[in-house]
Amino acid sequence: MSNDSTIHSIVQQRYGANARTVGADDLQLKSCCGSNVASTVSSASAAEACGCQPQLYDPALLVDLPVDVTGLSLGCGDPVTIAALAPGETVLDLGSGGGIDCFLAARQVGPQGHVIGVDMTPEMLTRANASRDRLGMVNVEFRQGQIEALPVKDNSIDVVMSNCVINLSPDKAAVFGEIFRVLKPGGRVSISDIVTEGEFSEELRADLAQWAECVTGAIDSDEYLALMRRAGFSDIAIVDKTDAEPVLGAPQPGMPRVYSARITARKPI
Ligand SMILES: C[S@@+](CC[C@H](N)C(=O)[O-])C[C@H]1O[C@@H](n2cnc3c(N)ncnc32)[C@H](O)[C@@H]1O
Repeated sequence: MSNDSTIHSIVQQRYGANARTVGADDLQLKSCCGSNVASTVSSASAAEACGCQPQLYDPALLVDLPVDVTGLSLGCGDPVTIAALAPGETVLDLGSGGGIDCFLAARQVGPQGHVIGVDMTPEMLTRANASRDRLGMVNVEFRQGQIEALPVKDNSIDVVMSNCVINLSPDKAAVFGEIFRVLKPGGRVSISDIVTEGEFSEELRADLAQWAECVTGAIDSDEYLALMRRAGFSDIAIVDKTDAEPVLGAPQPGMPRVYSARITARKPI
């Protein structure tokens, strides 16, 4: 197994390149890490390979967002809508990328609310900050940091959301521990992420190019939920999940079924 810093470095390089090369003229709403997924999964696009919904968001939500925000969307679902945000809430987005979910959340929490996006990739933060300034969204800020050691105070957040990021972490238990630490008692979790049914073989797991594409870092959904329970969360639920099989075909040797799932939970009061 590769060490954590190697995985962080490869993931950061991959998304740094993405932030540098995906321009405002890239009108496609990319999904689920964006590109070439896999020798392991034939020639299907990343969106298809990860089992993502072809249309991640209600188009009405996106009408007045610029294409340099929607074009840099790399998620695998819409964690904002299921978060049922209320005006005045403080929201934290793990792995905020180009910022799309932060901007959608900022509208819902309004001027009395606050949205913090955390990402480890400097080029993503540059893009997100430029979009924030262009949109004039003063209730959004972006911080550089790793989701395994969040630069956020204890018990300070109403809702933690994340879109297609936790699968990329080499230490998912640490991520859930950090989410629990920063949430206020009674705070909510709203996640879109890639999960599997079964495990990748050791050989596929070691393929870090595919890890960075949101494929081989994904873990079994039972294990994912167990990590959340162990961190202390209650009311853990898979809201919905989209199976990749229609586009991938039957799983190949060493490759489990892959899903995009939306998951909610709560920190007990
Ligand atoms: C697949 S993109 C998703 C971006 C965004 N959530 C969206 O929906 O467009 C993954 C993002 O998570 C960030 N990321 C991945 N692993 C991270 C980690 N361990 N700590 C902080 N950021 C991370 C990457 O830099 C990248 O911007």
